[in-house]
Amino acid sequence: MAGTDCMKDRIMAPTNSSSATPAQAWDKRGWRAYPRVQMPDYPDQPGVAAVEAQLAKYPPLVFAGEARRLKASLGEVAAGRAFLLQGGDCAESFAEFSADNIRDTFKVMLQMAVVLTWGAQLPVVKVGRMAGQFAKPRSAPTEKMGEQELPSYRGDIINGFDFTPEARIPDPQRMLAAYTQAAASLNLLRAFSTGGYADIHRVQSWISDFTGGEEAARYRDIAERISDAMAFMAAAGVTSETAHDLGKVDFYTSHEALLLEYEEALARIDSTTGLPVAGSGHMIWIGDRTRQVDGAHVEFCRGVQNPIGLKCGPSISDSDLKALIAKLNPENEPGRLTLIARFGAGSVGDHLPRLIRAVREEGANVVWSCDPMHGNTIKSASGYKTRPFDSVLREVREFFAVHRAEGTIPGGVHFEMTGQDVTECIGGVRAVTDEDLSNRYHTACDPRLNASQSLELAFLVAEELRNRRVNGASKQAKAG
Ligand code: PEP
Ligand code: CO
Repeated sequence: MAGTDCMKDRIMAPTNSSSATPAQAWDKRGWRAYPRVQMPDYPDQPGVAAVEAQLAKYPPLVFAGEARRLKASLGEVAAGRAFLLQGGDCAESFAEFSADNIRDTFKVMLQMAVVLTWGAQLPVVKVGRMAGQFAKPRSAPTEKMGEQELPSYRGDIINGFDFTPEARIPDPQRMLAAYTQAAASLNLLRAFSTGGYADIHRVQSWISDFTGGEEAARYRDIAERISDAMAFMAAAGVTSETAHDLGKVDFYTSHEALLLEYEEALARIDSTTGLPVAGSGHMIWIGDRTRQVDGAHVEFCRGVQNPIGLKCGPSISDSDLKALIAKLNPENEPGRLTLIARFGAGSVGDHLPRLIRAVREEGANVVWSCDPMHGNTIKSASGYKTRPFDSVLREVREFFAVHRAEGTIPGGVHFEMTGQDVTECIGGVRAVTDEDLSNRYHTACDPRLNASQSLELAFLVAEELRNRRVNGASKQAKAG
């Protein structure tokens, strides 16, 4: 828990006694001296300062000990002893905020984790893109509709989605609304995780009403077998009352650390270690558009102790990756750095092997995760931004194949998904067609997998993980 000194204004990282070069001093305001991209120019500067002062007084949304625990779990992922499942909205929105939406996404993640645990026989580390995923990088600074051109929508924490000049003005008050929504979301997620809903004895109830077809039947089959195992264990005296871990799950939050005014205002000192920690979410990541080695986002993220994600798209060079690893994880701490590969189906083989070699040359300890969403976005014939489910599946397969060939560990997956029955990505067993896209296209930004598609994908990943286990075991047997 954050202690009484968590309100300290200036934060300096202590120099590191174990390293030859002392860790470079860090200050939570230090990013302001570095070039920034993708951040809003607020016309109301006094308003920004007032909101920052208010947020700095508010309690952190997450606590340092929780972030440390997640880092330890990700260390297990890096070693191949656990698997990371990260998922949720592309952009959380104020309009779509409801208990049902949070519950449904949480529920699909539990289903996916069951499938993965069953397939991989590994613990699954569950991290939501939730309770803070509000700010969006954009490919262009403006959007055009007919003759009108306006500043791009940058996520509800910055400006409004409506296509009007007023809505698109960056408004600092939105940071307070985002904080409040994140706090309420976390409150619910904590209740779902520990209050009985996630008890493994309820595994059969997590399937969504609208998830039909083959993947639902496969899920029910696994759920039935788990229930049988639980009945056996209960007879042997093991229940949620005697083994408390059966009755709850660890569920963590994450988001892109894009809006640095918000991140800085929620940074705190961990009273246990005396080190700075981001209080906005358990894990934060740096986007593919904001990962400049000498940029503001890397500068901020290097100084907080949380697990850090780094999106790696096709344009990342080997030397940049090495420089980023040195900056973000100078102590080579397991679980600190997750590299989230997002190249697009058909391109994984062009980039992942060279980056794996760069990591190997540095002797760096990282988690490799696969985001098969952001490299596979297309404009459909009907004009919607979509992602073909086949491309998503293909990128996941390519990711596993490269790791198999390189002898490295495919540690996790990163999805944009929702528990709702939306029609945003085309394909899947219950095929969503181009014509269907207009039916239930609700995303505030990128297209998400719906509940069925998410579950289908979990089965594919579980299969890949089973292969990894079987291959690993046969290699060991040969070596022995
Ligand atoms: C995202 O994860 O929503 C995103 C914008 O990703 P990337 O930085 O990889 O493009
Ligand atoms: Co996205």
